[in-house]
Amino acid sequence: MTRNERLDKVLANMGYGSRKDVKKFIKEGLVKVNGAIIQNNEFKVSPYEDEITIRGEEVNYREYIYLMMNKPQGLVSSTDDPLTRTVIDLLTDDYLIYKPFPVGRLDKDTEGLLMISNDGKLAHELLSPKKHVDKKYYAEIDGTVDDEHIEVFKRGIVLDDGYKTLPAELEIIETGVFSKIYLTIQEGKYHQVKRMFEALTMRVVYLKRISMGPLILDESLVPGEYRELTDDEINSLKTR
Ligand code: URA
Repeated sequence: MTRNERLDKVLANMGYGSRKDVKKFIKEGLVKVNGAIIQNNEFKVSPYEDEITIRGEEVNYREYIYLMMNKPQGLVSSTDDPLTRTVIDLLTDDYLIYKPFPVGRLDKDTEGLLMISNDGKLAHELLSPKKHVDKKYYAEIDGTVDDEHIEVFKRGIVLDDGYKTLPAELEIIETGVFSKIYLTIQEGKYHQVKRMFEALTMRVVYLKRISMGPLILDESLVPGEYRELTDDEINSLKTR
């Protein structure tokens, strides 16, 4: 939104009601701009600079929100779903007014880092296949992952549909009948990590994303919790 916006438009965009509702409470004298009651809907404001209050409560204007969630298992990463709860259902109303959406997808049974925002441009930058943004996962595998697989992942793996993945970096944490690994991939094909291991006749039994580009999961967030990104985190995403 540019500067010098109509007061009723700013308040309606902020989710304080429909344009009609907002006009009504402006008329009733409930809105102040820089301390003065304004009863004219068309009054022009600079939403970032003027102090706007409704019933004495300050309206903090901003266009975009950026959240980091530790996605829990059992929820889908879409904005709405007829059958299943979504990650957006976990957000409080003060974030919902910005109409946020998940930036990328994690499977229903995958946990970990999920960014949620309403900044379509940044989402596109992070998700565009051309940008090759690294996504790092922690996974537990039903199968023996050994050092020879490091090279196999680096060469790329042919998936069930014939697609050959870009080079991926495998780090082995523990090996045995069950193995624990980190895998960094540059793409986001459907069920990619699971399908890469399936191609090697192994099965992912637990999957958690721990980073996406420069953004690292804040491990103090328990699954289902979220927080706003810090300014440094936002800048690191925008300047990558
Ligand atoms: N790869 C998968 O298989 N699932 C995810 O949720 C993310 C990457």
